[in-house]
Amino acid sequence: MNDLEKYFRGNNQRLIHKWIHYFDIYDRHFCRFRNKEITILEIGVSQGGSLQMWKSYFGNKAKIYGIDVDPRCKAFEEENIQIFIGSQSDRNFLRKVKEQIPPIDILIDDGGHTMKQQIVSFEELFNHVKEDGVYLCEDLHSSYWLEFGGGHKRSGTFIEYSKNFIDFLHAYHSKQKSLQVNSFTKTVDSVHYYDSIIVVEKKKREEPYSERTGTASFQNINYNETQSVSPVTKFAYKFRKGANRLLQYLRFKNVGNH
Ligand SMILES: C[S@@+](CC[C@H](N)C(=O)[O-])C[C@H]1O[C@@H](n2cnc3c(N)ncnc32)[C@H](O)[C@@H]1O
Repeated sequence: MNDLEKYFRGNNQRLIHKWIHYFDIYDRHFCRFRNKEITILEIGVSQGGSLQMWKSYFGNKAKIYGIDVDPRCKAFEEENIQIFIGSQSDRNFLRKVKEQIPPIDILIDDGGHTMKQQIVSFEELFNHVKEDGVYLCEDLHSSYWLEFGGGHKRSGTFIEYSKNFIDFLHAYHSKQKSLQVNSFTKTVDSVHYYDSIIVVEKKKREEPYSERTGTASFQNINYNETQSVSPVTKFAYKFRKGANRLLQYLRFKNVGNH
């Protein structure tokens, strides 16, 4: 059991409400920040228990900020914990918060879990997460719940929104105008999906490249399937390649077996 879950199980301070499988995910992505001078922002304070848990886990050098729409949460401020009252779907409010806090190492969205709240918060706050920081949004199952604006493959859910991240991550390899390198491509190292959690790990990225090392065993290294095959197969390969170029342009599914 990791230290976060231990804290949770032995908690006799303010109330915390978390899904149990989240603790391993938090620990996996957050442990490198322990005992460092870091800035954490959690959206969704509720009874203040999770802010106290972060304080215990990360140590005295961590500055912890909370956001909640409920004004009663202001009472949960203490040393190294500051709380802003306002809505995570209010862009002006989030911009004001950004002006008042340093760049963020870890952002946890555990707020109201509606589609608008999650998307607006991501759009406003992601650029305030540091170059090697982490953005974690939880309770993504709300993307499948109608009362939260969710639904399987329903346009506008946070899950559908975040599926674009997979494309952005690969944009350096795109040969189509519809997918171009953007700030996400240049600043995100990895995107992790878990049951109900997405973690976006940031890192400055240049265009990727490959290299070869070792000694070649053949004269000509050619990775395509036309080498040492019959002229008919070669023709079929070229035909498929040409057809796929056209279908790619028209954005239809490709032909052939690759
Ligand atoms: C799931 S609870 C947070 C639980 C807390 N992080 C914990 O682990 O104990 C969700 C909180 O989000 C807050 N919330 C709901 N809508 C919000 C909004 N639009 N902006 C900010 N906070 C909101 C609620 O008031 C509630 O306190």
